[in-house]
Amino acid sequence: MLTDRQKEIYDKYIEVGYNYNKVVKYFNIDHKAVAYCLFMCSTKEGLPLTPINTVNKKGSNVMEIQDKVTGIISDLHIPGHHENALEFCKDTFSDNKVKQVVCIGDIIDHHYISRHLSEPVAMNPLDEWGSTMNELNKWKKAFPNMVIAEGNHDKIPYRQAKTLGIPEKFLKTLHDMYKLPVGWMFTERMHIRERLIIEHGLGSNGMYGAKNTAKTLGVSYVQGHTHAHAAVFDIPRPFHNIQAMNVGCLIDTSKYNATYAKLYFKTPVSIGCGIIHSVDNLQYIPMM
Ligand SMILES: [Fe+2]
Repeated sequence: MLTDRQKEIYDKYIEVGYNYNKVVKYFNIDHKAVAYCLFMCSTKEGLPLTPINTVNKKGSNVMEIQDKVTGIISDLHIPGHHENALEFCKDTFSDNKVKQVVCIGDIIDHHYISRHLSEPVAMNPLDEWGSTMNELNKWKKAFPNMVIAEGNHDKIPYRQAKTLGIPEKFLKTLHDMYKLPVGWMFTERMHIRERLIIEHGLGSNGMYGAKNTAKTLGVSYVQGHTHAHAAVFDIPRPFHNIQAMNVGCLIDTSKYNATYAKLYFKTPVSIGCGIIHSVDNLQYIPMM
């Protein structure tokens, strides 16, 4: 049973668009108290902590994040990620005085349970789940607060269930599956002051995918998904230029998780991460 105070905090959390930082600021209390309250709401009352099933007034699942220096973690595909990815992100974000961290999606690979044929050398699904949990624990510790743009690989359990006619409501959330912290939130799309959109980038492909999508949307744009062609584009506009960034990925191409991609993609992958210094100042940083 929740206390009145816990209900009040949860209601405010929903009201401000699942924005943990706004709740801390509004009540002017320790962030651990908010985290504990939301944890109780989720585990004891089953209340949702992510807006996965919500639709905002503009008809899509969009979360506003703060306008401050943001580190972007590109496609990890855990456990198919590069072994140096975590240290690289920690060092790069520290060097650039990053104040908040966002993951661009495909944080989890879900190789075995995907619709594609599994590699003969692949771990069985439960071993893959265990390995994913172990690796995620390191990322949780390094980045306890993170908004994650839903990637197509993150959604594989739901997509596979859908082929059997099983709705998401019948399944565990990713938070439950992987014991994710309350500070991690999934959303379809993020924006900063309606001047910059961040999303996984499904349907925005090729060398100029990010640039073309930014031109279509008319705002700066950050995406992952393609794994290759990482770059920043400056796009002239009459009053202020906009920018587009493809953040590449942080996979290990020697792992079996990446084998299928070699059949389709002829260009080398781009290994790196991104920094949003401001809505019109984006930076891609390759991992050397
Ligand atoms: Fe990906």
